[in-house]
Amino acid sequence: MAAQCGRSCLRYLLHLAQDNLDFRLPEIKSLLALRGKPFSPEENFKEKSPFWILNGICEDDVRGFMARSVCAKSAFELWGHGQTQSDLKTSLMNYALENMTQYMQKDSTYRINVYTFNKTLEFAERIKRIDALEYIPFEGTVSLKSPQHVFCLLEDYGTDPNDIPENPYYIYFGRWIADGQRELIRSHSVKNRHFIGNTSMDAGLSFIMANHAKVKENDLVYDPFVGTGSLLVACSHFGAYVCGIDIDYNIIHGKGRSSRKNQKWRGPDENIRANLRQYDKEKMYVDVMVSDASKSVWRKNPLFDAIITDPPYGIRESTRRTGSHKEITKPADGIYVESHVAVSQVYYLSDIFTDLLNFSAHHLVMGGRLVYWLPVYRPEYCEAAIPLHPCLQLISNCEQTLSSHTSRRLITMEKIKEPEECDSLAQMAEPHVSLYQGHNAFREKYFSGQNKRGAKEDNKPQVNGEEANDS
Ligand SMILES: C[S@@+](CC[C@H](N)C(=O)[O-])C[C@H]1O[C@@H](n2cnc3c(N)ncnc32)[C@H](O)[C@@H]1O
Repeated sequence: MAAQCGRSCLRYLLHLAQDNLDFRLPEIKSLLALRGKPFSPEENFKEKSPFWILNGICEDDVRGFMARSVCAKSAFELWGHGQTQSDLKTSLMNYALENMTQYMQKDSTYRINVYTFNKTLEFAERIKRIDALEYIPFEGTVSLKSPQHVFCLLEDYGTDPNDIPENPYYIYFGRWIADGQRELIRSHSVKNRHFIGNTSMDAGLSFIMANHAKVKENDLVYDPFVGTGSLLVACSHFGAYVCGIDIDYNIIHGKGRSSRKNQKWRGPDENIRANLRQYDKEKMYVDVMVSDASKSVWRKNPLFDAIITDPPYGIRESTRRTGSHKEITKPADGIYVESHVAVSQVYYLSDIFTDLLNFSAHHLVMGGRLVYWLPVYRPEYCEAAIPLHPCLQLISNCEQTLSSHTSRRLITMEKIKEPEECDSLAQMAEPHVSLYQGHNAFREKYFSGQNKRGAKEDNKPQVNGEEANDS
């Protein structure tokens, strides 16, 4: 084996889950950014492929982001790769011996796994694949149960289940480093959640949102449409202190009708705090309160490291805010003097996004992130429809298709300027929300788009068998 490359220029192979394809790249980029590392893929990088090769990072970085990622399944130190067995052999023979020897010592134990993507191999075929690797000078002893080192041969048969080739399109061999956090999708499933509602966000997407938001230990995270607190659960798992508000008294106090089958009323202690307690994260609970997101009660200071939310679109819940139709204009100084607001009025989608972006511009710390869902009527969608704000930089925009006509987009923005530094205050007060200006027209189209989905084209998103919500 030739010595061509030191441990400083190692490459890593990521095996990614093939669901939520759009969300994977921003997740890995955000997790690398948390470690101050760039995302440097190999030249022929294909975003939709289940396999990515990354450069410019070290094993600690890989372990670090795999301890957070719900999109990546496993990560390996890449020892060799190629289109054929013979290419793989050449590549492996050229891999620096110094990188391999410590894992192949006489007194060590090891195991080789065979993983095939889009094809199932018989047991005998797998053994043949392992035997064919006899040119790698392993000196240790095979241990199937508890090996010190695990290696993996990965074969990629493409992504079309109706066109599986005889031979793989590509083959990789590497040393296993770490698995991702796919298990969180099962362990935090809303099916087993203490307190749920009709629009509880599924676990997989909640963790993805927390990762896009770069939530980290000791952060303070805020959800202005907190509902049953699914997003707070995910953020607290990553060590953040969490708080939120909701206009619905029953949700905040865990009262009223239950969303569970066979249960009429919510039981005692069905609330957000109990949800955090369920996962041993009660110490990260700051508080939640009944409040209207359109009328901020917070001091105008950068308070939150991340704002992460799923605003109401009026599909499964109404979009309401406090106040009467008679007094819908905001005072010039933004401070409301009325002490009693008994009635409610429609909270227009365009106002929801305007308020959310303005609130984030004022209340996020510099570099803090806003992550939220935007409903989209697909026939009319264009990138210009994404609400913008001069204090917030658009980081990513990922689509989750719901039907042929409707989808929702996960928008991530980062605070880059204080509102006082903005050139145009007028522009700041009016983020671009034109697509949502006709609130009722949009909702009508969105509803009819939802209804247009026939049994066949119904693409209700699933995350590991868990139906994602659609608020
Ligand atoms: C899509 S749900 C959020 C679901 C939440 N992510 C969860 O996992 O349960 C939107 C929430 O916004 C709340 N909401 C509607 N209008 C509001 C307003 N003006 N201010 C604050 N909350 C509001 C609704 O009561 C609802 O609970």
